[in-house]
Amino acid sequence: DFVLNFIKDNRWKYLTDGLKITLEVTFFAVILGIVLGSVIAIIRSTYDTNYESMKSKVGKAVLKILNLVAKIYLTVIRGTPVVVQLMIMYYVIFSTSNNKVPIAILSFGINSGAYVAEIIRSGIMAIDRGQFEAGRSLGFNYIQTMIYIILPQAFKNILPALANEFIVLLKETSVAGYVALQDLTKGGDIIRSRTYSAFMPLITVAVIYLVMVMFFTYLVGRLERRLRNDER
Ligand code: ARG
Repeated sequence: DFVLNFIKDNRWKYLTDGLKITLEVTFFAVILGIVLGSVIAIIRSTYDTNYESMKSKVGKAVLKILNLVAKIYLTVIRGTPVVVQLMIMYYVIFSTSNNKVPIAILSFGINSGAYVAEIIRSGIMAIDRGQFEAGRSLGFNYIQTMIYIILPQAFKNILPALANEFIVLLKETSVAGYVALQDLTKGGDIIRSRTYSAFMPLITVAVIYLVMVMFFTYLVGRLERRLRNDER
């Protein structure tokens, strides 16, 4: 009769509302993470490969500072747990605000950005130097070479790692309950605490995550195959 009650008193609402929050936070955090990660990766790889050969003194100084900021960001974000970052964001930095969803998006996005930055940087570093030279010989400037020649090739190579990051992020949002945000996990846990029945709500939550990850993995597999075929 758990199932009957489940339907009768709209208990499932905790799961569907929670799922919406989980998807919303994950979606926007992924976008923020990719934007942040791309910027950081480009700064770091530009510093590593171009700093010595740069002519402008000002340009060199700016790049050096940007690189330092990027390094501090990576160190702090990867060196501390995302739950702690989320709690600091909610209870310290935005203690006067109660907008949990944007705060969660910001926390998870900033966190993911650090991991994405290293994924993208590894992709950029793996591209042969000749590709940069090819871009320059076509009359592209550094930014254009990056956008039209380097990043598209890098993207294909890092797709599996990026997909992995997305899966990690989707599941990692389950700690959102620490700041009382009612995501999917919290929704299931509320049902557990009100019904004194742990099995059904928790297994249901697990299955929903599993199905989402499996569906996503399937989509990435298709995209990968398509990118591979486009090559020929
Ligand atoms: N659970 C780890 C932490 O608390 C991983 C964070 C997220 N990892 C990631 N690849 N986005 O720091």
